Amino acid sequence: MKFNTKAIHGGQEHDPAYGAVMPPIYQTSTYAQTTPGGHKGFEYSRTHNPTRRALENALASIENGNYGLAFGSGLAAIDAIIKLLKPGDEVVSTNDLYGGSFRLFTKIFQDFGIKFHFIGMHNASSIEAYINKNTKLIWVETPTNPMMNIIDIKAISDISKKHNTLLAVDNTFATPYLQQPIDLGADIVMHSATKYLGGHSDVVMGALIVKDKDLADKLYFIQNASGAICGPQDSFLVLRGIKTLHVRMQRHCENGKAVAKYLASHPKIEKVYWPGFEGHPNHDIAKAQMKGFGGMLSFTTKENNYEEAIRTVENLKVFTLAESLGGVESLSGHPASMTHASIPKEEREKTGVVDSLIRLSVGIEDIDDLIADLKQALG
Ligand SMILES: Cc1ncc(COP(=O)(O)O)c(C=O)c1O
Repeated sequence: MKFNTKAIHGGQEHDPAYGAVMPPIYQTSTYAQTTPGGHKGFEYSRTHNPTRRALENALASIENGNYGLAFGSGLAAIDAIIKLLKPGDEVVSTNDLYGGSFRLFTKIFQDFGIKFHFIGMHNASSIEAYINKNTKLIWVETPTNPMMNIIDIKAISDISKKHNTLLAVDNTFATPYLQQPIDLGADIVMHSATKYLGGHSDVVMGALIVKDKDLADKLYFIQNASGAICGPQDSFLVLRGIKTLHVRMQRHCENGKAVAKYLASHPKIEKVYWPGFEGHPNHDIAKAQMKGFGGMLSFTTKENNYEEAIRTVENLKVFTLAESLGGVESLSGHPASMTHASIPKEEREKTGVVDSLIRLSVGIEDIDDLIADLKQALG
């Protein structure tokens, strides 16, 4: 099955009870048993729920994995991955990553004795210097949030296999429509399904997809034991979102490209961070591992100061100033004071998250309206 068909049918069956084409929202916490243990495969909804199961099967299918797991948020999904580790274990992570992931690693798990190394992964081989016998996990986000750096998943996966570590890839920005990390050698794919998978800014959810049964069993155990699951309503909404992912992503890519080019040609703009530009440091890798460049980009203006950035995002009308990304509507954000505020200033500035940086999640509105909005806001 090709991707566009998988997005609609992958892992899905019509509901066995009445043939409903969309799985019903099984709004139930528990399931009747005829005798202790005598049930139809479902006992308690923290452990399993038929609507969540339908979504998890769809997730596995679109990421070319064998097992999907849905969580109450993207961070809950990341939390489950780190719970695979023990005190003394080490993680090598990209240094340009979602601020909440950084906060979870440094403010929660560091205190449990897990050591994190944050390094630039622009050049994949540079990570080997940080790997030792305690390294159990490599954490990759590509494209990175918000600097749009590109990391070579295949090259990192070769290194992870050589050193026998797990490789987890946060695929939130690219989505499986553009990039399939499992095919490139990743062990775990993670999503903030809140973003493109849901696609309509109406759900907070996380997802993991894996191929290996033992790894899936460990993660299912953590999912059930820690309990950070999502509810059936939200499962239904994200399943519905996935069915249009391919169509939405095509338009996100088209509009993202048009906005990136417009901004790059604007006299007030200093720099646009978008992997589709030939001058992007890892453009060739992006071209090889992604089907398109997506709808996310960041930029700085020539005035290069906090006030100008704030004025610009406040002036935008069609782009809503808001946290999050990946919905049908265009959003703007000021990473230094919003999504990345939890990273200390000197840390975030090292990776380029300066006070003048603006991030755009380009939606699927008419491109003329988006360009006109940017024009008036910058003017
Ligand atoms: C790249 C990335 N990963 C993870 C997360 C965390 O996901 P959630 O907000 O669903 O917990 C986000 C949220 O913005 C994100 O952008």
